[in-house]
Amino acid sequence: MELAVEAKQLVKVYGQGVRALDGVDLSVEQGKTFALLGPNGAGKTTLMRIFTTQIRPTSGEARVCGLDVVRDGAKVRKIIGYVPQEMSVWTDLSGYENLLIYAKIYGIPRGTRARLLDEVLSKLGMKGAAKALVRTYSGGMIRRLEIASALLIRPKVLFLDEPTIGLDPSARKAVWMELGKFKEGDGVTIFFNTHYMDEADLYAEEIGIINEGKVVTVGTAAELKRSVGGEIITLSIAGNPFVPERLRSLESVEDVILAEEEVRVVVKDAEAALPRVLEGLRQDGVSVVRAAITKPTLDDVFLKYAGTRFEAGGRVGEVRQMRRMIRRG
Ligand SMILES: Nc1ncnc2c1ncn2[C@@H]1O[C@H](COP(=O)(O)OP(=O)(O)OP(=O)(O)O)[C@@H](O)[C@H]1O
Ligand SMILES: [Mg+2]
Repeated sequence: MELAVEAKQLVKVYGQGVRALDGVDLSVEQGKTFALLGPNGAGKTTLMRIFTTQIRPTSGEARVCGLDVVRDGAKVRKIIGYVPQEMSVWTDLSGYENLLIYAKIYGIPRGTRARLLDEVLSKLGMKGAAKALVRTYSGGMIRRLEIASALLIRPKVLFLDEPTIGLDPSARKAVWMELGKFKEGDGVTIFFNTHYMDEADLYAEEIGIINEGKVVTVGTAAELKRSVGGEIITLSIAGNPFVPERLRSLESVEDVILAEEEVRVVVKDAEAALPRVLEGLRQDGVSVVRAAITKPTLDDVFLKYAGTRFEAGGRVGEVRQMRRMIRRG
């Protein structure tokens, strides 16, 4: 399988000695939706700027679809789409006019522009709003318009830097629904940065966690959470006095903790272990009133691999970013 995105020992040191990337190794297969998840200042935008050929790495290698971003920059630019973290459309123009400008920048022939714009607008569910000034759009619509302009050239890899920053959950969902439609049709690879754990959890097929310029782990959300270990099945039981021996002897069970009417069974993979645990209890004549599975979250994953709690920068970071967007707009 050809790789869409690849980094080897990538280092970026900014002028004043800020080591924004500290030896990043990463590979993303074609067709995947990949999330780079990390707190403010982790190096997400820096990495994306290197992949999109806006800045050069200090050392190491970066490739997009096999093309070196430094040596083959012009070729890379032809096969990627990019939506920056800051706002990238003009608010005093209509959505349609914005797309037209991007179509011209991309060199899309005059004869095919109208049809292409029409197609992109209807795919993104924005036909109705195309004639209105962007100034009147909601944040979610602006983001969709930006994505539409990045998709005009049918990129092989679409880079999205914080695609839903500052959007409420329903607008966020709408953006991802539209992205999903494009993926189905064109098989595009999506590489997105985010500091929202739930966004990575919900929409990425694979997640890389970045902290202080290092990608500390990569995997599917399920793999990452499992790697934390210790999923817990909590059972409310009734009837017979409970004897944990049989449960303890089950291969998949790591520990059994008794707490009043509750039994906590620590396992590696709760969904796989649950049937065996229930069967074990049934054989002891214990009836289960309720079963719940508690799983580690991406926050626990971050704690395990980055050695600190995930601090998304909270409101300050977001306010700063929104300000930047507004100023640009
Ligand atoms: N042009 C620059 N010059 C100097 N330092 C920079 C520059 N751009 C970023 N940095 C620094 O590099 C580090 C990584 O920044 P980067 O913007 O890549 O992080 P990020 O993960 O995208 O953060 P955010 O979530 O805030 O967007 C930070 O310490 C930042 O202050
Ligand atoms: Mg950033």
